[in-house]
Amino acid sequence: MLDQLENVGQTAQTELKDLTTGDGLEDWNSKYIGRKGEITQMLRRVGELPKEERPAFGKRANELRKELEVAYEAKAAAIKAVELEQTMAEGAIDVTLPGRPVARGRLHPSTQTLRRIYQIWAEMGFQVYRSRDVETDEMNFQLLNFPLHHPAREMQDTFYTTNPDVLLRTHTSPGQIRVMRDYYPEPIRVILPGMCYRHEQITARSEIQFYQVEGLAVGPGIRMSDLKGTLINFTKRLYGEGRPVRFRASHFPFTEPSAEMDVQCFLCDGEGCRICKYAGWLEILGCGMVHPTVLRNGGYDPNKYSGFAFGMGPERITMLRHGIEDIRYFWGNDLRFLEQF
Ligand code: PHE
Repeated sequence: MLDQLENVGQTAQTELKDLTTGDGLEDWNSKYIGRKGEITQMLRRVGELPKEERPAFGKRANELRKELEVAYEAKAAAIKAVELEQTMAEGAIDVTLPGRPVARGRLHPSTQTLRRIYQIWAEMGFQVYRSRDVETDEMNFQLLNFPLHHPAREMQDTFYTTNPDVLLRTHTSPGQIRVMRDYYPEPIRVILPGMCYRHEQITARSEIQFYQVEGLAVGPGIRMSDLKGTLINFTKRLYGEGRPVRFRASHFPFTEPSAEMDVQCFLCDGEGCRICKYAGWLEILGCGMVHPTVLRNGGYDPNKYSGFAFGMGPERITMLRHGIEDIRYFWGNDLRFLEQF
């Protein structure tokens, strides 16, 4: 039986040598030195031996269990070390590698121009007033002195909803009526920024949606010279001192008199080039004195109050600032364009 015991010891040692994983190791442990392991089982059979052989057998069996326990601990440590090395190798980070570039977002060029415009008007005491994109025919046209079937409506091809009295605003001017009805009888100094929509052929110069920034000042004794002075001041702040501007007589149903404002072309300094269509000037806004009928529609008595209004296109201003030749880039969402700003 002692031989049998030695054999078990031998086999156990050989099996242990071949083990490579922690799981196999635990199985080995219970098979040989666990509470139901072979060594324990042999010890239980000690009674089968003649009395005088029992002490030697017991002693050897306990020794053997000790040896195997020591071997087990050593093997466990070895396997652990190998496993640790493996996980380290798998999760290794090479700290010398260059980092992955982080794509940074940026503001849309229109937003950048809008913010600059808000800032300048804020410095001059104009508050931002948010009006709505979906308007009634009454607000967008009738109260602004465009009678039904008036040919001036054709200048602004309109997106109607299924209800012909409800439309997408073709300009920010209907906001004028809303501000007046909201502020009466207080004096008014506001800008009304927002998206406008026109059912037009999309070309390099015209889009079906675009921003406008409307401006409105109403109070006692406001004159045309206030309009001119304020707008000249604005363009100086936007484009710098040296850039010449001019006013041209024009027509809008809701202002009288009406004008358009031009700035000298940035590209050719007035010489004439492709951008300004050889005029030397670039149109940036429409403006005028608020028509008495419009004042009345807003609730202000035109005998006591007067006012001026203007409407500018930020995309247009951005195009002129950066020499962008095609307005379709603005809503094309082409990153090659957007990332330049
Ligand atoms: N609403 C006009 C347009 O869309 C611009 C404008 C605004 C003109 C205010 C005069 C006064 O072209």
